Amino acid sequence: MENDLIERYDLRVPRYTSYPTAPHFGPSVDGAVYAKWLGELKPETEVSLYLHIAYCAQMCWFCGCHTKATKRYAPVQRYMKALHAEIDLIAGRLPARMKLRHVHLGGGSPTVLKPKDLRHLFAHLRERFDVLPDAEISIELDPRTTTLDYVKAMADVGVTRASVGVQDFDPLVQNTINRIQSAPLTARVIGWLRGYGIDAINMDLCYGLPYQTVSSLLETIDLALAMAPSRIALFGYAHVPWMKRHMRLIPLDSLPDMRERWAQHEAAERHLKQGGYVAVGLDHFARPDDALAQAAQSGDLHRNFQGYTTDDAPVLIGLGASAIGSLPQGYVANEVAIERYISDVDEGVLPIKRGVAVTQDDCLRRAIIEQLMCRMEVDLDEVAARFGSSGESFARELSALSALEADHIVRRDGHRLVMTDEGKPLVRAVCAVFDSYLSSGAGRHSAAV
Ligand SMILES: C[S@@+](CC[C@H](N)C(=O)[O-])C[C@H]1O[C@@H](n2cnc3c(N)ncnc32)[C@H](O)[C@@H]1O
Ligand code: SF4
Repeated sequence: MENDLIERYDLRVPRYTSYPTAPHFGPSVDGAVYAKWLGELKPETEVSLYLHIAYCAQMCWFCGCHTKATKRYAPVQRYMKALHAEIDLIAGRLPARMKLRHVHLGGGSPTVLKPKDLRHLFAHLRERFDVLPDAEISIELDPRTTTLDYVKAMADVGVTRASVGVQDFDPLVQNTINRIQSAPLTARVIGWLRGYGIDAINMDLCYGLPYQTVSSLLETIDLALAMAPSRIALFGYAHVPWMKRHMRLIPLDSLPDMRERWAQHEAAERHLKQGGYVAVGLDHFARPDDALAQAAQSGDLHRNFQGYTTDDAPVLIGLGASAIGSLPQGYVANEVAIERYISDVDEGVLPIKRGVAVTQDDCLRRAIIEQLMCRMEVDLDEVAARFGSSGESFARELSALSALEADHIVRRDGHRLVMTDEGKPLVRAVCAVFDSYLSSGAGRHSAAV
């Protein structure tokens, strides 16, 4: 990719894990609106649950997640008490005892929980919901705090998939992000997971981290490939020190520039493909026999707040501080501040702070953006027809795309758009053309590449 193109399209564009995106959620959707939306759901609807554990043993300085470091267990215990209370609040507002298709425990680090508290959490979920026999139950692990007892508890509660945080194995990079985690430690945890029958394993890696180079990243990827995870997520480090103060601890001059980030992304992608993985969407790779690779192949890939997923459940209920939910009526976001989250739940109030009701136009644009993000192409006529509209209504957007077309980032054939191979990493810039909220200026995002 030409240097000037990288510069020109180094736009500050959203990650499009929802549409409208989170900066456009507002206070008009509160707990009362959410309670009404929950009550309107059809009792037979299959539901996905996301539970956010907002604590970690230690803060990584590159971290962009909603989490807090704690050395003590008491704050985690208080938080879990609130999370249990929120499960009851939600279950009490649903029209029936509903079926769970997916359960995902994320964070933060769910591995801060004691194994007995993980068991208690799942026992409670099974009391209030019907977990479908073939449900996917997944957990994010920080290998540095994962014990054999924890893995045993995961197997006992029915976990089917684990996501292991790695980022990079280079000691200089690890030092600079305050995350020391050796490859043997990581391999040992993966061995435990497999020993307990949890073979579906994702590994998170990052490019664009401080002091990373193409060759150090490829060394990390070689170590990762030797552990043979079924999926690898390769995220571009998002440096947002105006939102996360701890990122100021990372020296600015240690960060790879746009051109270097691009080179890292390209080299990593090539290396992963040579290693037998297929690219899925923007930042995921999977072995061809993995469900995510197969969903990408069959056009069944989806995107939600966790990124790319096989999850097609129409309802996602988010629990825990900062969790986001998606219902047919719109999006809801929980209180981010842990203390306020706990006090809301203590008072018996659904801890929703912001949200947005979706319009027909939002749903149409969301479908276009999701298809671009998941398939790297979209037929505007086909998608618009599903919403009683036509590709003709996007004349403004199509003319705005001409610069991206001229730069060979996207190809247009009538109302059909296809990302070029070299343009794929810039797909978010194409999605942004269909985002009718973007011009309103709310929010500030990280780099597109
Ligand atoms: C909740 S963490 C994963 C589980 C566990 N906390 C851990 O780190 O091992 C989610 C993932 O988000 C990614 N991530 C965190 N901060 C990021 C940032 N600033 N930019 C890009 N990716 C980031 C990392 O790859 C991380 O593994
Ligand atoms: S990257 Fe993971 S372990 Fe590190 S602070 Fe963020 S959530 Fe916690």
